[in-house]
Amino acid sequence: MRELRLAHRGRRHAKSTVTNPLREGLRLERMPDPFLFVLFGATGDLSHRKVVPALYQLWRSNLLPHEFMLVAIGRRPYNDETFREEMLGALEEYCRVLPLDVGAWSEFARRISYCRMDFDDPAGFDQLAVRLTQLDGESSAGGNMLFYLATQESAFPVIVQQLGRVGLDREQHSGGWRRVVIEKPFGRDLDSAVRLNREVGKVFREPQVYRIDHYLGKETVRNLLVFRFGNGIFEPLWNRRYVDHVQITMAESIGVENRGAFYEETGALRDVFQNHLLQLLTLVAMEPPATFEAEALRDEKVKVLRAIPGFAPHDVGRNVVRGQYRPGWVGASPVPGYRQEPGVDPESETETFVAARLTIDDWRWAGVPFYLRAGKRLAKRATEIAIQFKNVPHRLFLESSTDPEPNLLALRIQPDEGILLRFVAKVPGLGLDIRAVNMDFTYGSAFSTDSPDAYETLILDALLGDGSLFTRADEVEQAWSIVTPLLEAWFDAPAPEFPNYVAGSWGPEAADRLMDRDGRRWRRI
Ligand code: BG6
Repeated sequence: MRELRLAHRGRRHAKSTVTNPLREGLRLERMPDPFLFVLFGATGDLSHRKVVPALYQLWRSNLLPHEFMLVAIGRRPYNDETFREEMLGALEEYCRVLPLDVGAWSEFARRISYCRMDFDDPAGFDQLAVRLTQLDGESSAGGNMLFYLATQESAFPVIVQQLGRVGLDREQHSGGWRRVVIEKPFGRDLDSAVRLNREVGKVFREPQVYRIDHYLGKETVRNLLVFRFGNGIFEPLWNRRYVDHVQITMAESIGVENRGAFYEETGALRDVFQNHLLQLLTLVAMEPPATFEAEALRDEKVKVLRAIPGFAPHDVGRNVVRGQYRPGWVGASPVPGYRQEPGVDPESETETFVAARLTIDDWRWAGVPFYLRAGKRLAKRATEIAIQFKNVPHRLFLESSTDPEPNLLALRIQPDEGILLRFVAKVPGLGLDIRAVNMDFTYGSAFSTDSPDAYETLILDALLGDGSLFTRADEVEQAWSIVTPLLEAWFDAPAPEFPNYVAGSWGPEAADRLMDRDGRRWRRI
């Protein structure tokens, strides 16, 4: 998959920091070609919080070549200087590693150029093409350009179309590559995602397109495949013979923060279920790919999505639960209900919680339910995948006061990243009592090093031309084809009885009933 590119002659060397034996002998980091990073939506929240801090952090970690420029594009009236100041403020607030490295920042800042532009103005794109050619020459970027769309979703089609019109999509025989990174949400339902794919496909070839789902860039999510396919002992158990069911939880303790207006249009199903949760599901359930290359990996993920039977309208009520939080307490603080959040309709019917029971009708998983849940203002922030194994077939330790608990493997995505294996052990003593105990691995203590932010990983991969951690057109559409019938069924259903869970709880009671019905319970996290 990933070409290991050794440093070219001008490469800057990372300061040596760690002397952890688990990190000894690691391969050298890869270094992208020179490039222009053309950031649309540069003045927006995402650019401030994630994109620019990630780019700076890559630079500071000596993972970018000297020959690059960040061409920031936005509607606001900044110039190079004022935009740099704005970014300095953003870095001071959001950078993963603080304090900032002053030397690295001043070198980075020199490479930022601001370009004021209205996306609806075709003439602006003509000027942009001229400017980029000039900057390409000045910075020796070799014609390589990455267009990063961090704008509102409604601007994606016009930007792509204009890039095509002025010929900025065209890769050059002499070597210059052109790539486009598209943020989520990629569409609002199946139809709009198909339309967007079609628009993008008119300009860029699929290998040039990098659709972001930042969950795929998280270290713990990347480790899922290493855990499954780098270890011999788990894979033989990873199927319907041994697994009773799987739970995937993405709990957030935060509310909608200042994104009320956006969330009103989105809801939990579109915001995180269609993408983050279904992506986690594909990684848990996929078959081993023949190679660790982008296409092979994504082929296997798509097969999982295809094997999930669509919900018939009458099945939705039985298998999917939605919820919305009312005022409550998170930790020691009182918090408002969703309908009291700024930008939210006081009679809103938007869901802030969703739980669903899915099945995967294939050879490996037939009959194994997958329970997925995600919500805002839940009791705590925790994303976890729990593989619940079947119980032993025969009860042997009749003397014990407790029955053996089935084994559990919990992959903690965040926070407290790690992996827990729960098994039964004998309680020390003369009798034969048994209890479940935990064997726990945590990344922090094993590797004593910080993980990169998901955006650092994803941006670097896009610059290196590695699409493994990005979603392909058919994958996005397949995910929407699972979610769209739910949206339609909700649209046709009577108004939900919202709010139906207290902020700071684990969601509506109906989510517990979904499990009770199958004789199971959500794991207490
Ligand atoms: C985003 C959603 O994609 O993911 C947000 O739009 C959500 O609503 C966020 O809060 C969660 O990401 P993370 O990395 O904090 O788990």
